[in-house]
Amino acid sequence: MTVTVPGTESTDTSAAAGPTEAAGAAEALRPHAEDVFADELSALAAADDRPRPARWRLSPWAVATYLLGGTLPDGTVITPKYVGPRRIVEVAVTTLATDRALLLLGVPGTAKTWVSEHLAAAVSGDSTLLVQGTAGTPEEAIRYGWNYAQLLAHGPSRDALVPSPVMRAMTDGMTARVEELTRIPADVQDTLITILSEKTLPIPELGEEAQAVRGFNLIATANDRDRGVNELSSALRRRFNTVVLPLPATPEDEVDIVSRRVAQIGRSLELPELPEGVEEIRRVVTVFRELREGVTGDGRTKLKSPSGTLSTAEAISVVTGGLALAAHFGDGVLRAGDVAAGILGAVVRDPAADRVIWQEYLETVVRERDGWKDFYRSCREVTA
Ligand SMILES: Nc1ncnc2c1ncn2[C@@H]1O[C@H](COP(=O)(O)OP(=O)(O)OP(=O)(O)O)[C@@H](O)[C@H]1O
Ligand SMILES: [Mg+2]
Repeated sequence: MTVTVPGTESTDTSAAAGPTEAAGAAEALRPHAEDVFADELSALAAADDRPRPARWRLSPWAVATYLLGGTLPDGTVITPKYVGPRRIVEVAVTTLATDRALLLLGVPGTAKTWVSEHLAAAVSGDSTLLVQGTAGTPEEAIRYGWNYAQLLAHGPSRDALVPSPVMRAMTDGMTARVEELTRIPADVQDTLITILSEKTLPIPELGEEAQAVRGFNLIATANDRDRGVNELSSALRRRFNTVVLPLPATPEDEVDIVSRRVAQIGRSLELPELPEGVEEIRRVVTVFRELREGVTGDGRTKLKSPSGTLSTAEAISVVTGGLALAAHFGDGVLRAGDVAAGILGAVVRDPAADRVIWQEYLETVVRERDGWKDFYRSCREVTA
C-alpha cells in the first residue's frame, strides 16, 4: 500500500527498485561532502586565483576557507564546516601540500573524521578513498588484493590486481584517508612506512612497483583514548605531522556547532526546522560540558565525571533524537522532555557508578538552577 505524505511525491518503494546508483547522490542517506557542498566547492574554485599544488582542486587558502567559512568577492557565502582555531586548519592544509602525511589526533567526537572528509573533498574532490582501521584490517586493505577468478584463469597480472584505496590515491595523485590508524595491528600499520617514505608500493608478484604521483597524500585519524592499543611505531609517527583537534573552547562555540549540525541532519531527515537559539541545545551542551570538565560553569561546584565521553558528537545525537521525538510524538517543538532520555542514555553508561553521579548532579545543580524547573522535572521522570 502506498501512504502519501504531504510534500513527498511517492513513498512507494517498489518504484525505486533497480540499481541503487539510479537514486543519485540526492537520495543517499548520507551523501559525501563533495556532493553536499558541490556548489560551494565550485564557487571557491572559480574565485580562487592563488597557486594550486599539483592535482589540487583548490589552493591551500581556498581549502582553508572551505573548512572555516567566509564570503567570496561575488557574495557567495561559504558555510563553516569546522569551528575551531584557524591555525589548526592552516597547519593541516599546509601539511597536505608537503611530503609528510597528516595525523588528526583527539578525544572522541572532536571532528577528526569530519575534518578528514572535508579536507579530502576540497583538496582532491573525492573523499571516498577510505580505509577503515580495525583490529582485523589486513595488509590488502592498504596495499592491494586479487580478483581470484582472474588470478586462477590468467595468473597474476595488472588486470587481476585489485588496488586498495591507498594504491588508487597513489597512482591518481589523490588524498587517501585511513580512519582509526591506531586500531590497526602494528605489522599492518608498517605497510604505510614504505608508502609514505619511498612513495612507492612494491608488487613482488608482478616484479613491479606502483609509484605515487604528485598530489598523493594521506590523512589518518586516531583517537586519544585508543592510544596504547597499538601505539604508532616511531618510524611511522615520523612520517606524519600530528594535529591535535581540541574540544570546543567555549560553550558558545559548542552550541553553535551543535545547532548547525542538528539543522543539517534534521533537513536530511525531513524534521521540522529548529528555531534560532533553542534553549534545549544550550542545556544539553551545559550539562555535557559541566560533567565532562568536573565543575559547574561558574566554577563554584566540583562534580564527578561519568565514564562516558559526553562529546560534541553525542550532544548532536541527543538533540537530533529529541527533535525526532518532538516531530513524531509531540507538536514539533523541542522541549526538555524530548532530550531528557537522550541525556540520561549518554551520561549513564555504567548503570551503578554513573547513575549515582547523575543523580547527585540533578539534585545539587540542576534542581537549584534558575529557569531549569521543567528540565529538572523531565530528567527526574526518566531517571526514576
Ligand atoms: N569543532 C567542531 N566543528 C564542527 N563540527 C564539529 C566540531 N566538533 C565536533 N563536530 C561535529 O561532531 C560530529 C562528530 O565528529 P566526528 O565523527 O568527526 O568525530 P571524531 O573525532 O572522528 O570521533 P571518533 O573519535 O569517535 O571517531 C560531526 O558531525 C561534526 O560536525
Ligand atoms: Mg572518527
